[in-house]
Amino acid sequence: MRRGEKHQINVPVRVTTSLTVVSMIVSLSLMGCQRASAVSPPSGKELFALHCAACHGQNGDSKGIAAAFLFPKPRDFRAGRFRLVSTSNNVPTREDLHAVLLRGMPGSSMPPWEHLGQAEREAIVDEVLLMRKEGAREFFIGYLREEEELTEEEIAEEEVQADIDDYVQRFTTPGESRSVPAIGSPDRESIARGRDVYTKQSCHSCHGKEGRGDGVEKMVDGEGLPTSPRDFTLGIFKGGHDGASLFRRVAYGMPGTPMPGSSALKPEEVVDLVHFIRSLSSEEVRLAAIMNRTRIVAKSVNAMPEPFDSNVWSEIAQVNLRIMPLWWRNDVDPDLQVQAIHDGKTIAVRISWDDPSHDEHATQSESFEDAVAMELYRGNAEPFLGMGSADQSVDVWFWDADRQTSLDVEDQYPNIVADIYPFSENLAATAEYRREGTLRADQPSISLPAVAAGNQIVPCPPAMSGGSNLNVGGPGSVTFRIPKNQFVTAVGQWKEGRWTVVMRRALSVDSPDEGISLRPGGKASVAFAIWNGSRRDRDGQKLITIWQGLELEK
Ligand code: HEC
Ligand code: HEC
Repeated sequence: MRRGEKHQINVPVRVTTSLTVVSMIVSLSLMGCQRASAVSPPSGKELFALHCAACHGQNGDSKGIAAAFLFPKPRDFRAGRFRLVSTSNNVPTREDLHAVLLRGMPGSSMPPWEHLGQAEREAIVDEVLLMRKEGAREFFIGYLREEEELTEEEIAEEEVQADIDDYVQRFTTPGESRSVPAIGSPDRESIARGRDVYTKQSCHSCHGKEGRGDGVEKMVDGEGLPTSPRDFTLGIFKGGHDGASLFRRVAYGMPGTPMPGSSALKPEEVVDLVHFIRSLSSEEVRLAAIMNRTRIVAKSVNAMPEPFDSNVWSEIAQVNLRIMPLWWRNDVDPDLQVQAIHDGKTIAVRISWDDPSHDEHATQSESFEDAVAMELYRGNAEPFLGMGSADQSVDVWFWDADRQTSLDVEDQYPNIVADIYPFSENLAATAEYRREGTLRADQPSISLPAVAAGNQIVPCPPAMSGGSNLNVGGPGSVTFRIPKNQFVTAVGQWKEGRWTVVMRRALSVDSPDEGISLRPGGKASVAFAIWNGSRRDRDGQKLITIWQGLELEK
């Protein structure tokens, strides 16, 4: 088969998701009376560019714009070191790749794509396979050039081209799959036998005696990056927690990581191991590790309650959202809950999550604050989860603990000395002006220069809303809306190890410069991010949900 042929054959002919609808609308309006059936679905390449490229890179080389913020690092499809494989030669099958797309990879920032249509996922799998083939071709041609010292003319020769095709074929065609026996239900005996095999096979040397991932301290993966053996009690399984998936992981190992395969074990021994490993976590914990998409319904109410009026809010349905750290850490389940209401004019979203430390210290540049953001999008085809894209901008509502506090530099550093206030017209340069009882009414706050320069990051009493509104069109493009377009107000309360933040805004705004309009009965997409200051979260180091559906009651 020639390179690319498979790709062409597998391009889907029928896509039923919203993306098609958008392209249909666009094309119909452009082409007047042309029939909808003439519109082709988005290609795998387009889908990849939209959903995957920011992390995996436009050409699949893992160097996407967001990759710097991620750990573990996104997979390099060109190098093809896939870890979740079911074949003897470590080449993934289409089904292996499709399974990754359905589930994502809990324990990393790789999100699930279950909400895309089957046909869209298939087209994306084709694209990944194509990238792998291109990568293999590139690698082999590089080898011929550098090691074999072939000239471009020699490389172009038919015979050499056939060799290249041969190489690509060999390293991208899945080998044999080991058949997976029926896993059955666990019983006490099988779990006990599994524990014996676990010890006999030295699984404990890495995963620890009780499976808590504490057998070794430090390890590196095939790329020399730090990794660690899985703590089985957390229920995080990158390759799926069902019996058959775990069977494959144990049987084939995870190529490119220290996790070895166990080809010498009998199938029934692997089954016992699977029962033992699953016995260390509950189904509930395992499910909680997988990102999901839910519906948040903004209830229609007659009047807006006070932000912390628990009588009213306790009547509003709470939605639990799963959230993942982009830079992975295990000990996070902040129990994120969201509620929403609207009164026909204003919408209020109440977000609460566990955070044992209360971090608000605007004035200490060495410390970081707690914060939460909500990303809104209205339209059929959702843009890239992480901050939209240039032609699909998102509206971000942000609350941070610092903005609502009245902490002053002077409070934090009582002995601070300021020599000059460049923005102050009625004050001569002042030294040591602020001592207990010496501050006159016409003297400025020490952070006045920033205020005078229009720096919106500076908390500005007396308005003291912790909210702000950002316009974002792709990773790295965050801009504060200008003050007259700031309509989000937000207030947070930290109580007994938990933040509750309520953000509010008028449902509709006048122009795209002011954000995204909502309406009763309407729908939008929404995603959330939280930052834990004492874990040094800031900017792209945060926890995120995937896109959720927001619906406003009529
Ligand atoms: C937010 C970043 C992000 C996005 C978006 C993303 N990925 Fe990933 N992906 C990752 C990371 C990180 C890994 C590696 C996880 C690990 O090794 O634990 C990964 C791993 C993978 C793997 C490797 C599976 C294996 O066997 O090793 C595949 C395949 C994959 N992603 C496909 C996709 C496709 C296709 C898309 C778009 C539909 C996509 N990813 C979007 C971050 C992302
Ligand atoms: C040399 C160290 C080492 C040994 C020995 C080892 N593992 Fe692992 N194992 C790892 C590492 C590291 C990972 C995580 C890899 C990653 O996420 O990239 C892992 C991951 C796993 C996973 C998670 C799979 C998933 O889908 O996320 C399972 C299950 C597992 N190991 C089972 C076993 C069993 C059973 C044995 C014994 C037969 C074993 N391991 C032996 C290092 C080891």
